[in-house]
Amino acid sequence: MRPFDYIDGSLSAGQVPLADIAAEVGTPAYVYSADAIEAAYREFETVLAPARICYAMKANGNLAVLRLLAGLGAGADVVSEGELRRALAAGIAPEKIVFSGVGKTDAEIEAALRDGILQINVESVPEVRSLSRIAAGLGRTASVAVRINPDVDAGTLDQISTGRKTDKFGVAWTEAPALFREAAGLPGLSMDGIAVHIGSQLGDLEPYRRAFRRVAELVRTLRADGARIRRLDLGGGFGIRYRDEIPLPLAGYARVVQEEVGGLGCEIVVEPGRRLVGPAGLLLASVVAVKETPARRFVIVDAGMNDLVRPMMYGAWHDILPLDAPPAGADYRPADVVGPVCETTDKFADRRLLPPLEAGDLIAFCEAGAYGAVMSSTYNGRPLVPEVLVRGNGFDVVRARPTFEESLALERLPDWLSGPGGQG
Ligand code: LLP
Repeated sequence: MRPFDYIDGSLSAGQVPLADIAAEVGTPAYVYSADAIEAAYREFETVLAPARICYAMKANGNLAVLRLLAGLGAGADVVSEGELRRALAAGIAPEKIVFSGVGKTDAEIEAALRDGILQINVESVPEVRSLSRIAAGLGRTASVAVRINPDVDAGTLDQISTGRKTDKFGVAWTEAPALFREAAGLPGLSMDGIAVHIGSQLGDLEPYRRAFRRVAELVRTLRADGARIRRLDLGGGFGIRYRDEIPLPLAGYARVVQEEVGGLGCEIVVEPGRRLVGPAGLLLASVVAVKETPARRFVIVDAGMNDLVRPMMYGAWHDILPLDAPPAGADYRPADVVGPVCETTDKFADRRLLPPLEAGDLIAFCEAGAYGAVMSSTYNGRPLVPEVLVRGNGFDVVRARPTFEESLALERLPDWLSGPGGQG
């Protein structure tokens, strides 16, 4: 099942023509397919059972998306108190939540402990000490996994690789035994697991295998030292197709997990983000103008880098489809697809082959359900864009477009500026 396809020449989500959504909510707008998210979750559940699936909600934290996944049984991987609150608000039980992140504050650790979440993944010696102090102070015992840095290159984009020894993440795998020995003498800690996450958008199983092998070696060493490791959090990273990539084969991944760590008798946790929501979403935009210069054809759209930053931040490719299917034999010519933001880098595509487009035409940026809306900003005074969830033949606005008044509401003028004309 493809989440988005042409029906009678009109790009649709299930049975719903995306043009109908654009007419009702305007553009730009994010559109997600609940059916596609559910199908992606079911695939994980089926292929990786009995692993625990903790959705990496940094990929898409919309409350309705979270509630949908909660209803399917998902837990959550959170990286801030904001995400923790959101996961709980969506109905994800605390005992299904793991807290990752390289820089948790004391306040965040305290919130996680008070809520009684499943596991806190620590990434440094100072963090273990803080966690012990805070947990002991609260009279709680934290279930801890140590995120190791296995020094494995995930073979993905440099900016989203996390498992090389020069990356900021995790405790060097060589130093983990010393950390476990120190932690054994600290109060408030139950040292239950190892976590590892080597990067995002992986297409290849080999880096996973290398990382998991290192985890297995470490578990054996730690157990010989007396540690009681019972849970392995294997992170996320499951690659999808943006252009011509082959999505990471989940069955192959399950085999690698089984072969490398299956014999250790540990509960397995995975933290998929992108794979659950990326292909299930797109960003709708309207063509504002087409400008032909001596050098380029610029298709100027009403979405900008503040709405979807991946192309500008990582050079990432997103397919661009017109909502009206181009006629057979349409004349595809190169175009730079650019936004309205006052930055040269506000460019979604460079010399992309596209059919004729004109002002008022609607287009979609595909595979935008992950790391799209969550990474957006209000740069250039542009309100965050609405989010729409399609299910079956219907759709709902699950985040409204803020009004300009709402955008201003958090700001205050100091007394000395609040008089008429600005100088009190
Ligand atoms: N677990 C941990 C500890 C992570 O850091 C991440 C992603 C995940 C799980 C989920 O990984 P996924 O299954 O989504 O690959 N903004 C970038 C991606 C950053 C990923 C950060 N960590 C992008 O747009 O490509």
